[in-house]
Amino acid sequence: MDKKAVTMDKIVNLCKLRGIIYPGSEIYGGMGNTWDYGPVGVEVKNNIKRAWWKKFVQESENSFGVDAAILMNARVWDASGHTASFSDPKMDCKECKTRQRADNLIENHSKGKVNPDKLTQEEMQAYIDEHKVACPNCGKFNWTPIRNFNLMFQTSRGVTDESTNVIYLRPETAQGEFVNFLNVQRTTRAKVPFGIAQVGKAFRNEITPGNFIFRTIEFEQMEHQWFCKEGTDGEWYEYYKKSAKDFLLALGFKEEHLRYHDHDKLAHYAKAACDIQYLFPIGWSELNGIHNRTDYDLSRHQEYSGKAMGYLDPFTNERYIPYVIEYSIGADRLMLATLCEAYDEQELEGGDTRVVMHFHPAIAAYKVAVLPLQKNLGEKAKEIYKQLAKYFMVTYDEAGSIGKRYRRQDEIGTPYCVTIDFDTLENGTVTLRDRDTMEQVRMSVEEVISYVNEKILL
Ligand code: GAP
Repeated sequence: MDKKAVTMDKIVNLCKLRGIIYPGSEIYGGMGNTWDYGPVGVEVKNNIKRAWWKKFVQESENSFGVDAAILMNARVWDASGHTASFSDPKMDCKECKTRQRADNLIENHSKGKVNPDKLTQEEMQAYIDEHKVACPNCGKFNWTPIRNFNLMFQTSRGVTDESTNVIYLRPETAQGEFVNFLNVQRTTRAKVPFGIAQVGKAFRNEITPGNFIFRTIEFEQMEHQWFCKEGTDGEWYEYYKKSAKDFLLALGFKEEHLRYHDHDKLAHYAKAACDIQYLFPIGWSELNGIHNRTDYDLSRHQEYSGKAMGYLDPFTNERYIPYVIEYSIGADRLMLATLCEAYDEQELEGGDTRVVMHFHPAIAAYKVAVLPLQKNLGEKAKEIYKQLAKYFMVTYDEAGSIGKRYRRQDEIGTPYCVTIDFDTLENGTVTLRDRDTMEQVRMSVEEVISYVNEKILL
């Protein structure tokens, strides 16, 4: 299907209709930019996270997982630099009271010709004043000056509101990996180079959230920090650039829908940084990041915690603070890209059309739908459902014509439909329909189990 025909509206509507993603707190009128995953969506997202973990922990000889607390000692954020500088340049429209990001205003106004990453705050202000860049919401030009707005959500622990009790919802999972560097190294006896991975929630009070689950205030990250010796960092940086792309290709992303984007303006700690962008319906946008963070994070934690963060090389007896290559990808951002990549509308023979989600079988919510041809075959069908459900996620549907049931499964991307008919009662065989080719083959239930188990391997 032509990529341009995949619109965000189509994706959002399908998600709501088929139990993939609903607006958050909907019965109370919703809460802007929060989303709840439904029965199908939670499976797909869990499968995405599992696939990532498999590739970057299970199959990586020297990577280990952690699940650190979301609420961390506030000093962590002083050390990481988030308290001082995790901010975006914001402007408030005095007319309609909306808040906008100055960098986005410039990028949109110049149609991408001016890169705001290369401008200082004063230069951004000058551009906006000179070009009288208007508010995208009300069309007026009446702004407050640019101010930096810290994106961390702040709360307080305990019963009093004193400033010493201030804590933050973590804005990235990465720091949970850095503060556990010594613990993991000691308990696993890992030798540098090795990795620490984590999947978990992060929170950012984004100035301009939106585009469905592309940019939200609560989201999940899948992050992997690779600790290596200075001097080998360039090689590992290239390795993770490639691995991150290979992972997407293995999930079924087309090469032409992905591209690397090297950063022009580097964070103060970074030696190199690049995104992999995906061709979303909103245009080319960041899907994940790969950063060479040098020894910044561990050095800062050493300075702020007073704990020596060095690694003693058992072969050379040399003590040093490792460099870090970070690979970071949003689980929800990848979910959105997966939905957009899988979406297809097809014309069928006889003038019928179908929407079909071509998820990789490893990612699909249900691997098999069990469909009795008639309701009086329900008992046998339920028996087969139970047999299959011991191996993978299965769904059951006996409502409506078989054609309609196939369409429903196509829309949620179920790769295989197993139909139970009268021959099933006679000889135990079922028909297995392939979502993409719509071809059907007859086989035993045992054969279905081994066939599907093979296909869901990533
Ligand atoms: N530890 C590095 C870090 O957090 P980042 O580029 O700010 O780097 C990494 O975020 C990834 O997290 C992004 O590439 C994106 O996939 C995801 N992400 C970041 N902000 C997000 C948001 N507000 N909503 C959804 N996903 C987000």
